[in-house]
Amino acid sequence: MKIEKVAILGAGTMGSGIAHVVAQSGYQVIIRDISQEFLDKGLKTIRKNLERGLKKGRITEEEIDTIMKRIQTTIDLENAVKDADLVIEAIPEKLELKLGTFNELNKFTKPEAILASNTSSISITKLASETSKPDKVLGLHFFNPAPVMKLVEVIRGEKTSDETMNVAIDFAKSLGKTPVRVKEFPGFIVNKVLITAINEAIDTYERGIASAEDIDTAMKLGCNWPMGPLELADYIGLDVVLDISKVLKENIKDFNYRVPKILEELVSQGKLGRKTGEGFYKY
Ligand code: 3HC
Repeated sequence: MKIEKVAILGAGTMGSGIAHVVAQSGYQVIIRDISQEFLDKGLKTIRKNLERGLKKGRITEEEIDTIMKRIQTTIDLENAVKDADLVIEAIPEKLELKLGTFNELNKFTKPEAILASNTSSISITKLASETSKPDKVLGLHFFNPAPVMKLVEVIRGEKTSDETMNVAIDFAKSLGKTPVRVKEFPGFIVNKVLITAINEAIDTYERGIASAEDIDTAMKLGCNWPMGPLELADYIGLDVVLDISKVLKENIKDFNYRVPKILEELVSQGKLGRKTGEGFYKY
């Protein structure tokens, strides 16, 4: 199956980052969000990030305009997905919201369209069970910032077909990414390992073993991480880290997992990291 038109649901950090990469790779893109304000903000972010290459001579104004022209926006879900060969859902990480969306996608998409979720930890099989074509449903998990990070986890649900997996692998490669195949499991590969490590760093901070700065310095200089774990948690968003932590805790039964208290406290105070100006650090 040839992918030409890609619909992306959600114009937030991940949705706009994915739209950036997909449009830059030559595909026609339509982004859907629930308000024009979110869509405009997403488009602004894409242009701003494309312009990073201007000063370095890696891209021209004309090339940026060409890429931006490949991206349409809409608030109408049916209009967004009716002609799409591939839909990539990147809406907030709430199970009920995602289930409802997959139910609607089943009604509005072409029978042959592939339905992907950028979920960071929710079961693909559960999302697929909302549709009459679970063989066409899979996970395509990008990493933040999507234009920079090379990995895409390609996640197979219980009923995902080989053909769907292969089309998705080829699509990820066409974006210049390196895909890895993953069996469905809470957190897949990266978040199962990364969120556990971030929570260990938060636990280290909570116990007063070291300051936030020293924990981050230790992991940057001791393990060559590009960002320390607390800085990275602020970058990902503490609400997102908490949501994924809960999925890991609730769904991996023999995993002795503790969600740090301070993570819940910061989220309940609205201190979600960089996006709100404060998390483990002030911005
Ligand atoms: N869009 C496009 N380009 C971007 C960008 C963005 N949002 N952010 C940074 N860049 C580019 C810069 O322009 C620069 O390009 P150049 O090398 O061509 O000049 C390059 O990336 C490096 O950026 P900077 O020089 O500004 O800064 P750093 O060298 O400190 O790199 C970073 C920034 C790439 C974010 C780096 O710190 C990093 O890799 N951090 C770790 C990120 C990470 O772990 N992400 C995964 C999070 S987990 C996840 O997403 C899963 C989810 O489910 C939770």
